[in-house]
Amino acid sequence: MNLFNVYPLFNIKPVKAQGSFLWDDKGEQYLDFYGGHAVISIGHNHPHYQDRLKDQLEKISFYSNSVQNALQTELADKLGKLSGLEDYHLFLCNSGAEANENALKLASFHNGKHKVLYFSGSFHGRTSAAVSVTDNPKIVAPVNYDERFIRSEWNNIAQLEEIFEEEGHAISSVIIEGIQGVGGIMIPTVEFLSKIKELCEKYDSVLILDEVQSGYGRSGYFFAHQEFGVEADLITTAKGMGNGFPIGGVLIHPKFKASNGLLGTTFGGNHLACAAAIAVLDVMKEENLMENAKETGAYLENEIKNFPHIRNIRRKGLMIGIELDRDCTEIRSSLLYDHHIFTGNSNDKTVLRILPALNIKKEETDLFIKALKTVLENVSVKEQETVIL
Ligand SMILES: Cc1ncc(COP(=O)(O)O)c(C=O)c1O
Repeated sequence: MNLFNVYPLFNIKPVKAQGSFLWDDKGEQYLDFYGGHAVISIGHNHPHYQDRLKDQLEKISFYSNSVQNALQTELADKLGKLSGLEDYHLFLCNSGAEANENALKLASFHNGKHKVLYFSGSFHGRTSAAVSVTDNPKIVAPVNYDERFIRSEWNNIAQLEEIFEEEGHAISSVIIEGIQGVGGIMIPTVEFLSKIKELCEKYDSVLILDEVQSGYGRSGYFFAHQEFGVEADLITTAKGMGNGFPIGGVLIHPKFKASNGLLGTTFGGNHLACAAAIAVLDVMKEENLMENAKETGAYLENEIKNFPHIRNIRRKGLMIGIELDRDCTEIRSSLLYDHHIFTGNSNDKTVLRILPALNIKKEETDLFIKALKTVLENVSVKEQETVIL
């Protein structure tokens, strides 16, 4: 059987990883400044992570959500404490898209309304409701288009007010990323986020903060929107939560009522997934990773801000968008093949997306800075040569 061919692949086969480095089948070393789409939060194969998972494997890996699972309670307790959201409740699932599906559904159960407002540049996942509120026609199938899903412009308060005036009575929820990742590291203004909150309260709509990419300490805050002091009704999380072990969750404001069977999943919150997620929180706390994200992110920005071809840097903590004066494809290729550094791109082709592990070290950051400088300076040299020719 062949694989269903949907992923364009780099010609690299990683077989080993440790901290912020990967090694391929030929023994070549790579520096990871992307974490496989923002997933690696505490570094590859962190010893505490390995110990907790190995220990759990010796005990029990899985049973369904029909029995008591003390690991779920431990996870919820630690997550509440570290995020400062102790009075929220936790529903566990398996991925970011699934977390968003559940949030959209829960909002609709809660207020009985059926429309959803989302924003230009958004990415919320590929399952049905999640992709309907994703702003990318290439990945939205005809079955997912529906007038229930209303798109509004990012950071446009006037349009937001207009839409609410017309449709507010039917808007069940507003879904917004803490910081847009796939959209090119777009940070909402505090005025925009506060206005959304105000309108949600006025019209009895639910505010869903998608923190799948921007959450779990990446921005220097546990959840990116917490910097703005805006309270979300539902917060979705995944990616960094399990450091590679699939797990997602919805943090649910206490005003929502649970009832038997309202939400559910076979695999969500299984023993191994919880062990991985607990280990992540332990390391984040022990190693003060939110602080490291703030400090190392600021250091990196300061070192690269005057490099040629950089037009703008959008950054919170270690969620970094480097906007270039050109398509970043070749620069990214050169970083990968000439300097062995993984980086990411975004829907905006000029934006290089940088998402290293939250415990990235200064000397590892220096390797990236040095390589980026060389690549960007070489672009200039190549251009001059072209002009002379
Ligand atoms: C903000 C955001 N939400 C949701 C998702 C979907 O997560 P998953 O791929 O785990 O379903 C992503 C994935 O990139 C994301 O960036």
